[in-house]
Amino acid sequence: MPERDLAAVVLAAGKSTRMLSARPKVLHEVAGRPLLAWVLDAAREAGCREIVVVVGHGADEVRSAVAAADVRFAVQEEQRGTGHALAQAAAHVTGSETLLVLSGDAPLLRSATLSRLAEAAEESWGALAVAELEEPGSLGRVIVAESGHLARIVEAADATAEEIAIRTVNAGIYALPAPEIFTVLARLKTDNAKGELYLTDALGDAAALGNEVSVVALDDATEALGANDRRDLGRIHRTFITRKLEELEIAGVTVLDPLTTRVEPQVEIGADTVLHPDVSLMGVSRIGSECVLHQGAWLRDSTVADGAVIEPYCVLDGAVVGAGCSVGPFARLRPGARLEAGSKVGNYVEVKNATLGPGAKVGHLTYLGDAEIGAGANIGAGVVTCNYDGERKHRTVVGERAFVGSDTMLVAPVEIGNDATTAAGSVINRDVPDGALAIGRSRQRNVEGWAALRAKRRKQ
Ligand code: UD1
Ligand code: MG
Repeated sequence: MPERDLAAVVLAAGKSTRMLSARPKVLHEVAGRPLLAWVLDAAREAGCREIVVVVGHGADEVRSAVAAADVRFAVQEEQRGTGHALAQAAAHVTGSETLLVLSGDAPLLRSATLSRLAEAAEESWGALAVAELEEPGSLGRVIVAESGHLARIVEAADATAEEIAIRTVNAGIYALPAPEIFTVLARLKTDNAKGELYLTDALGDAAALGNEVSVVALDDATEALGANDRRDLGRIHRTFITRKLEELEIAGVTVLDPLTTRVEPQVEIGADTVLHPDVSLMGVSRIGSECVLHQGAWLRDSTVADGAVIEPYCVLDGAVVGAGCSVGPFARLRPGARLEAGSKVGNYVEVKNATLGPGAKVGHLTYLGDAEIGAGANIGAGVVTCNYDGERKHRTVVGERAFVGSDTMLVAPVEIGNDATTAAGSVINRDVPDGALAIGRSRQRNVEGWAALRAKRRKQ
């Protein structure tokens, strides 16, 4: 748990140049959420009560995407570099404190790292996080003095051949003293490849003036990954998923094929659950213990209770599946679908805004929308709740233990009583009392000798 009061500034005003995108860079999504949202989460987890986000490019879009009670915005009208961006937050920073400065495009940082940085900054003038990367790419190279403190940071665009070979990179995560840092920023110059005011130069300047800037090495170098182009985006997304799968495996979840399995960080899964290949679990979803999710299960914002089985190729979106239920193969559960314990949904069944009582069964080729199905009821193949009259939606209620025959059209609003039966092929548009049999179809007529009669007619 965080012990100190921390403030954070997140730089998020930059352009999206190398993304080749109309969307502000920090709103590109990884693991189901915008880059910036993950950065804000890490700041919150590290104990920041208030976060200043510096916006500029696509400011309105960025504001509305991350608006929250603990977030304030500073505007950088013209994008003149990271140092200039941080300077725009000065008015929002009051008193003297340790300021966490984060990049809105680097979402893999952990809150523990922020706490380590803040601690290191208390012992020195400030601190920055560095990582050793095999492929340092476009990241800034960090030059460490013999004392172990920072000497300076060279941006890739400005680096000499010798400097570009350095593998120690600037993660873009800092803990800096306020208001001192703003004095240093005021002296920045644009004499570099990009003609920008680099925040990194400010740290070098502070060091050159004899201030000790701590260099904190990241144990996990992936925390330093920032998204400047779409390849970075893909790498960051994959890293989030890999981290999550490993976390689940350590907690007792079987992931049969990690390379094809996608579980977003916010998903929770109980022990002894098995994930088959090609499973995607997204958004705020919760899966219980001892569940089996077979190949191709696609779940978003859904809950699955203990012991349930999702057969291959099902889509669950905003659905709730009770303990011991069985779903699919090839079922679609839409928002408001609610399966109570032990109920069963089979192939080619669509359920929307409908509840299936305990033990109810709907096996094949059915649409249930705006409906309430009683405990133990059986819905035959091809049943349709005709819930929409072209203007409004209406409800269907099916009683406990009712038997709805195959191909019944339930024209809503309509109610089928407890223990009632509908004959196969019926169109039911009036309520059916408890225990009754409803037949809503034309009576069958057999024409004897029809084949012979037809043959005779043809000859003539
Ligand atoms: C920056 C660092 C680099 C580091 C890397 C880590 C500088 C000069 N370089 O490079 O050393 O390795 O981050 O990811 O700081 N931004 C603004 N206003 C601006 C420019 C940028 O708000 O005028 C924001 C961007 O939206 C972004 C962040 O600052 O969220 C970093 O900017 P970016 O352009 O991505 O810098 P890098 O080249 O990645
Ligand atoms: Mg960047």
